[in-house]
Amino acid sequence: MAAQSRTGSARHGSGQARRFARMTDLKYSESFLPDMSAIAREAGALLMDYFHQHLKIEYKGEADLVTAADRASEALIRDRIRQKWPTHDVLGEEQGLSDQGSDYRWYVDPLDGTTNFAHGYPVFCVSIGLEHRRLQQRAPGQESSGAESGRIAAVVYDPARDELFAAEQGRGAWLNGETIRVSKTSTLQESLLATGFPSQKRHKNPNIHFYHQITLHTHGVRRAGSAALDLCNVASGRYDGFWEFNLNPWDTAAGVLIVEEAGGRVTRFDGSPFELNSRETLASNGLLHEALLDEFKVIFAGRGMEPLPDPREYKR
Ligand code: IPD
Ligand code: CA
Ligand code: CA
Repeated sequence: MAAQSRTGSARHGSGQARRFARMTDLKYSESFLPDMSAIAREAGALLMDYFHQHLKIEYKGEADLVTAADRASEALIRDRIRQKWPTHDVLGEEQGLSDQGSDYRWYVDPLDGTTNFAHGYPVFCVSIGLEHRRLQQRAPGQESSGAESGRIAAVVYDPARDELFAAEQGRGAWLNGETIRVSKTSTLQESLLATGFPSQKRHKNPNIHFYHQITLHTHGVRRAGSAALDLCNVASGRYDGFWEFNLNPWDTAAGVLIVEEAGGRVTRFDGSPFELNSRETLASNGLLHEALLDEFKVIFAGRGMEPLPDPREYKR
């Protein structure tokens, strides 16, 4: 059960329990969330200022867009982190890694959903996750959780809806200050899921097969264009699950902790522990996780696939 795996109490020996106790000392030594929330709200307000302007779109790849808003938002977030925590490391999508050898590393997606933003479609956010790298050890074969992975705090801010999702390791997850929990949906047939498609190496991405098969076995699969918000929508029970190939650490660092702290589960596609550089993200309410892993196993093996209808045979 998701709740049990989150506490870790059922599966850790005494050595691990001591390690958890040490983590707990560290965990409660400082709450980052008030400052993180203020930074995310400030960056979100900046994005909204840009949103109604006709911004020039630049290309990082064939369909990989970037705008002045992405850069300005990251510059603002980095500036605020530097002012408050000058020794911390920061990995941001637009400026890369500033590595000072700190135990703390910030993962910043200054604008998640750039394609939506650039087209005037109001589904995008600011995503900021904080990891403590000394907490990253985990016994082999054990599932990830915020505590074991070192993910300690997260905020995702959707400025178009004024929705601030937040989580702190071991303390829970919130939407605008109210506790959130994952859904209770227990069958795939009754579930609503989400996925995404990358803007790079699009020809190599097999996700259309997963999209098709899983669509046929559920109420549907949404593709809204912001992975961080997709994860938050799992955390708040709007979606029952989400998966995507080839996401980057700045896409997932915050959203994964928010899902886990809301009682959900996040793994790779084979059920092994999720890590920020896994490039496979499968999140669910926990109840559906085994069923989703089974779907992935079958699809990867190419067994029992429903054929894609041939458009040449389409008749009105
Ligand atoms: C993208 C969004 C999108 C996902 C892409 C990401 P960006 O991030 O999260 O939903 O499908 O894989 O790259 O480029 O808008 O920050
Ligand atoms: Ca992103
Ligand atoms: Ca981005």
